[in-house]
Amino acid sequence: MTDPIYKTDALIAEDIDAYLEAHQHKTMLRFITCGSVDDGKSTLIGRLLYDSKMIFEDQLATLEADSKRVGTQGGNIDFALLVDGLAAEREQGITIDVAYRFFATEKRKFIVADTPGHEQYTRNMVTGASTADLAVILIDARKGVLTQTRRHSYLVQLLGIKNVVLAVNKMDLVDYDQATYDAIIEDYTNFARSIGIEEFVAIPISGLAGDNIAAHSDTMPWYTGPALLPHLEEVEISNTVEQEQPFSMPVQWVNRPNLDFRGFAGLIATGSIRPGDSVRVLPSGKTSEVARIVSLEGDRELAVAGESVTLTLKDEIDCSRGQVIVAAQAPLEVADQFESTIVWMDEQEMVPGRAYWMKIGTQTVSATVQHPKYEVNVNTQEQLAAKTLDLNAIGVANITLDREIPFDAYDNNHALGGFILIDKITNATVAAGLINFALRRSTNVHWQATDIDRADHAAMKNQKPAVVWLTGLSGSGKSTIGNILEKKLARMNRHTFLLDGDNVRHGLNKDLGFTEADRIENIRRVGEVAKLMTDAGLIVITAFISPFRSERDMVRSMMQPGEFVEVFVDTPLEVAEERDVKGLYAKARSGQLKNFTGIDSPYEAPFNAEIRIDTTAMSPEEAADAIIDRLIP
Ligand code: ADX
Repeated sequence: MTDPIYKTDALIAEDIDAYLEAHQHKTMLRFITCGSVDDGKSTLIGRLLYDSKMIFEDQLATLEADSKRVGTQGGNIDFALLVDGLAAEREQGITIDVAYRFFATEKRKFIVADTPGHEQYTRNMVTGASTADLAVILIDARKGVLTQTRRHSYLVQLLGIKNVVLAVNKMDLVDYDQATYDAIIEDYTNFARSIGIEEFVAIPISGLAGDNIAAHSDTMPWYTGPALLPHLEEVEISNTVEQEQPFSMPVQWVNRPNLDFRGFAGLIATGSIRPGDSVRVLPSGKTSEVARIVSLEGDRELAVAGESVTLTLKDEIDCSRGQVIVAAQAPLEVADQFESTIVWMDEQEMVPGRAYWMKIGTQTVSATVQHPKYEVNVNTQEQLAAKTLDLNAIGVANITLDREIPFDAYDNNHALGGFILIDKITNATVAAGLINFALRRSTNVHWQATDIDRADHAAMKNQKPAVVWLTGLSGSGKSTIGNILEKKLARMNRHTFLLDGDNVRHGLNKDLGFTEADRIENIRRVGEVAKLMTDAGLIVITAFISPFRSERDMVRSMMQPGEFVEVFVDTPLEVAEERDVKGLYAKARSGQLKNFTGIDSPYEAPFNAEIRIDTTAMSPEEAADAIIDRLIP
């Protein structure tokens, strides 16, 4: 809370306390357990369930019988049998998926994510950790701090879990020896400090024997701290970081049961909100005021981070799933390039330059990951040079999106700074990531909501905006067809504009030549101009060779769905060269003109053009009619 603007909107401290007192979240602790294979996680969780009396009588009978059959040491009940329910797990002897288990004591409710220790399953650990208030890191007293302990601690720190419990397990197997315990704590303290874990609570336990789980055990009189379960009951969970931020809520869905009610439902990511507060919708930038806060328990006067609510606004403004409602005076920034920390979780290594789906908040955008700046050696925190990221690798890389999104750094806002990457072909979740900061941040440049928007412009012109994108070789007939098309549309009272390669290259793009890079920039600028013109409600006709598929696709993705009509003016090279209206083919053939499309520079014919015009079989008039048929059904 450094910006004074935020303070005017912030909750008064007493308010929060009083509110939280009554609130359910106060009594709910979400935690994860992590450690290596065989650290005894399942046993510990089984023990917690058992000690909190969450096991039903019949389950208990089966468990006792099972334990006898399996023959556990000391005749103790094998609690792992309770938790390792899956046959596959029992066969492999490892836990392979995140299992969420629920238990409760008089003081608190608990949800524990049982996450696997096997190295290959880092992804599950990340999944479990993303919602946790606390992490129990298990260490086998006989083995001490292992690679897995370091990896998991690093992830716990990276994911921003503030409460860490170091449970030194299997103390019964080291004769409850204090020196062994002390040595492990010293070792871990040094490591924890090096990765920025400032505080943790260490507890010597035996999950199997039940020492220091529900109550202090006589076996270790030298230990004076709390037992595990009482600690979990008492530990203070603060989401003050989230609550102290200005208000933000990604919209999950728009609830419109009838014409009189339109509510925006979502989970409040940060801050708090009251009826009457001014809000802004991002990225559109529209502002309004909160009318009501609707919840399952009825209308509310206040709602805070961590709660799911439905907001209604005073004005009828556009707002849909994926957009973010924020405090009007303290809007989030929007940007389309970020530095991010990425945990790669797929067998197939990361492919720099490839576009993946990125899910962030409630929206999905297309994201391209650049070459990693470096990979982190989790054991030493060393930054290693890396060309890609393999399974389980953690690295830092820049990421570029296909559009600007409202965001926050993960440190401030887990919901709007954390993301996952999904392979577009296989649909597999391949990575988890955290936004560190925006690269080219549009600091304080928010989309200015204009009162007359694109829908108004289009309505005034009584037409649907479109971009008719003519592509083909030089001399294929693009300009001729474009010209006839525009005249025909004008006769139909349509508002059009023709952007032609030769003309634009005399003005806006006179600094560009015909190298590959210049052609790409040429098309990018034309795309931006065409987009503005569709915002103005126009039907834009463009006549550019636009030889590369990827740039044509890029322009397509800039437009609204269905607005981009790609027309392949298909004239064979021989025919265009034969016509040679401007005499350029002759020059190119004689070597006076370099990089000429079709001669010494490539043309990539479209795969998925909406319309193909075979100019050897169709006149320019007929071509224009065919386009109109498609455009104005
Ligand atoms: S694009 O490749 O960047 O899309 P654009 O359509 O703007 O090209 O410009 C093509 C026009 O520029 C051609 O119709 C031709 O008149 C002229 N021109 C001059 N030099 C070249 C060249 N090397 N290759 C293609 N066209 C050229």
